[in-house]
Amino acid sequence: MAENQNQSQHGMWSSGALFVLAAVGSAVGLGNIWKFPYITGENGGGAFLLVYLICICLIGFPVMMAEIMLGREGRMSPINSVLKLARENNRSPNWSLIGWAGTIGGIIILSFYAVIAGWITYYVWRLFSGEFVGQDAEAIGSAFGSFLASPWQVFLWFTLFMAVTIYVVARGVNKGLELAIRICMPLIFVLLIVLLIYGIAQGGFWEGFKFMFQVDFSKLKLNSLLVAMGHAFFTLSIGMGAIMAYGAYMPQAQSVKSAVGIIVIVDTVVALVAGLAIFSIVFADGLAPDQSVGLLFATAPVAFADLPFGSIFGGLFFLFVAFAAFTSAISLTEPALAYFVERYNVSRVKVAVSIGAITWVLGLGSVLSFNLLSGFKPLFGWTIFDFLDKITTWFFLPLGGLAIVVFVGYFLPRKKVWSVLEINTTWARNTWAALICVVGPIAIGLVFVLTIVEHIPALHFLIPFLVSNG
Ligand code: TRP
Repeated sequence: MAENQNQSQHGMWSSGALFVLAAVGSAVGLGNIWKFPYITGENGGGAFLLVYLICICLIGFPVMMAEIMLGREGRMSPINSVLKLARENNRSPNWSLIGWAGTIGGIIILSFYAVIAGWITYYVWRLFSGEFVGQDAEAIGSAFGSFLASPWQVFLWFTLFMAVTIYVVARGVNKGLELAIRICMPLIFVLLIVLLIYGIAQGGFWEGFKFMFQVDFSKLKLNSLLVAMGHAFFTLSIGMGAIMAYGAYMPQAQSVKSAVGIIVIVDTVVALVAGLAIFSIVFADGLAPDQSVGLLFATAPVAFADLPFGSIFGGLFFLFVAFAAFTSAISLTEPALAYFVERYNVSRVKVAVSIGAITWVLGLGSVLSFNLLSGFKPLFGWTIFDFLDKITTWFFLPLGGLAIVVFVGYFLPRKKVWSVLEINTTWARNTWAALICVVGPIAIGLVFVLTIVEHIPALHFLIPFLVSNG
């Protein structure tokens, strides 16, 4: 690996703390607050949570360390960072496909992510306006349904969210990303505490708690494994280069492993808190835990509807989710942005606008998936939104992660990796080798194999227990 220059041409975070803040901002997002609760609900609660937590520890942690390391050593866009490291170590330039998959994956993810973030933005306004005051769960649920049914409304809020995101990323690492992160992150944490208190005050806390933490393997479906693993990647922003791109701007002296420790812990705590709060509301109001993409929108407003100052706190809560979505969205464009700036030597603004336009067009498919095209399901009964969500979360990210662990574990010089990651004791080295060379690849591979087996009935005798659940 290089005795590289210690700066990136795109700018640098002004401190190690800002890198951590930015990475936490990328990790904490709709994945934690909107997606994690509803997939936990759909997959039966505790047992799913356990599998998810195992994936975070055994796969998420090492993949994130490896990914950040690639960025910091390369100091360029993911495509060029991996290319550079591959060349320096006499490996095939094809490893840069890791960067390519991520660059494209990021744009696909942003295209549907911004649609959901648009819903959230609308709900900031909707709660502040007091529309839901005194309404019951049924009215709130149907209000969500009629919003989704209107393509123009969904389109408008999606476009607004995209425009703000592109505006900020166009301004660059320091004046754009960093400024937004400095403003949003502290607010996010304050509002999270507010949500937690409100969640507990709902009275359904214990039932929500039991739903999340009582492990009942009979509720676990085979597909839940893929859902849990895919989500571990999604929620940590790993497997596609977002965190690699951020790593390229981190200070040379910063410790990767402590940064990763903080990022993983904060991300997990936020997801658990959001889940507890939402399931408390679900059980306090007798709602269904398996409401798919609408769960957050059918529950949070119900809690705020009949509480004092509910519209203010409710509005603030959705504002917090919007900020969290925003600090994630900006990280999704960075791999592509950095690459095209390097490649064509054009201004960041031009690249940002072009990427924004492509993402926006792609996003229209997801906008229409909930109304005009809700019946258009050419593959596996998936809408366009489902398709984009699932191919990225279930395949792009884990495969990207697999390629990253294999590249770092088998194709880069071990001693260099140890020194960059400060893995110094024999114990730490063995653990690292076990995770990156063995557990990571096998666990990711196994989930894929099981998923394939699931779809071939003749092979079901291999895994009778898992198949029978689901
Ligand atoms: N982690 C974010 C969330 O949980 C989403 C996200 C941002 C992401 N950047 C990413 C997901 C890169 C995968 C890859 O909401």
